[in-house]
Amino acid sequence: MIRFAVLGCGRIGRMHARNLARHPRAELISVFDIAAKAAADTAAELGVTAAATVEDVLADSRVQAVLIATSTDTHVPLIIAAAKAGKAVLCEKPIDLDLKRAEACGAQIAPLKTTVMIGFNRRFDPSFRAVREKVLAGEIGTLEQLIITSRDPSPPPIAYVKVSGGIFRDMTIHDFDLARYMAGDIESVYATGGCLVDPEIGAAGDIDVAMVVLRAKSGALIHINNSRRCAYGYDQRVEAFGATGMLQAQNRFATSVQHWSKAGTGTRDTAQPFFIERYAEAYAAEIDHFVESVLTGHTPMSDFSDGVAALKLAEAAGESLRSGKAVSLG
Ligand SMILES: NC(=O)c1ccc[n+]([C@@H]2O[C@H](COP(=O)([O-])OP(=O)(O)OC[C@H]3O[C@@H](n4cnc5c(N)ncnc54)[C@H](O)[C@@H]3O)[C@@H](O)[C@H]2O)c1
Repeated sequence: MIRFAVLGCGRIGRMHARNLARHPRAELISVFDIAAKAAADTAAELGVTAAATVEDVLADSRVQAVLIATSTDTHVPLIIAAAKAGKAVLCEKPIDLDLKRAEACGAQIAPLKTTVMIGFNRRFDPSFRAVREKVLAGEIGTLEQLIITSRDPSPPPIAYVKVSGGIFRDMTIHDFDLARYMAGDIESVYATGGCLVDPEIGAAGDIDVAMVVLRAKSGALIHINNSRRCAYGYDQRVEAFGATGMLQAQNRFATSVQHWSKAGTGTRDTAQPFFIERYAEAYAAEIDHFVESVLTGHTPMSDFSDGVAALKLAEAAGESLRSGKAVSLG
């Protein structure tokens, strides 16, 4: 049994708090948010304490692990404070908006030897995991191509876009991690993109459609498709193509019903609305894995170094977008 506190009770923090509250090997002790109402509402819903300050959370000797789901620019100071207080840390992606700051954080916490995991939930999706296992088992021969499609149903609020660090750090970061998870280390990145969805995103200095081509050290080629808008729901698919076959992980739907009529055949629901629904099992499995890692002392599957590696790819993609050239990672 691991006793938790949750920092940040926004969209994803509240979902994690609910998952922890019902987890058989976790106990949720407290939640904290600088927006007192968000913490109070979550605490009241789950019957736990709304802490008054982050210091109160970290000074509570009952709390063994902290789940950080605050805005990205607060992750680094909170990771450091929690690790220094001897707490295990599960932190949402990305580690930070700046690679150097993330690397400095890693150097500071390394001697503390606490468990730190980054919330790359897609690694815990049963279908993506199965694709990886089959690739590793040689079921499609040598992996030659990987195509990752990730399209959000609609753009986030412009206020979020402005502090998100840009599409590569905020959104593609998941795909960069998935690419590494399935194809191993990456040696080069080429990115192109534009603003086809919302001119306000362009005015905020960001892009809302992107295509990225990665070359893995193994020689495999990876193509990532991103859009901030998708008319038919949250589009999340993976295709792995190898010397002797292909594996596809398709979209998930609310039901398995198909409708056949004069209007069309085999029509079904739109894809799942967004991440909370699409990755419900993955978020639960992520918590399982973190609890298991803390209890056994094993390094988690998506540790701090994976968070840094994904951020490195995001920065390289930004550089490639600006220069129009592929960026070699050496
Ligand atoms: N893994 C995923 O699928 C996924 C999905 C969405 C968001 N995220 C990540 O989770 C984080 C939160 O995103 P969100 O969409 O829930 O944002 P949000 O804006 O809905 O929630 C963030 C919350 O953090 C609180 N907060 C900010 N600074 C704080 C501080 N110093 N101490 C305590 N609370 C603080 C805010 O008041 C807010 O309630 C981001 O880093 C984001 O990248 C991950």
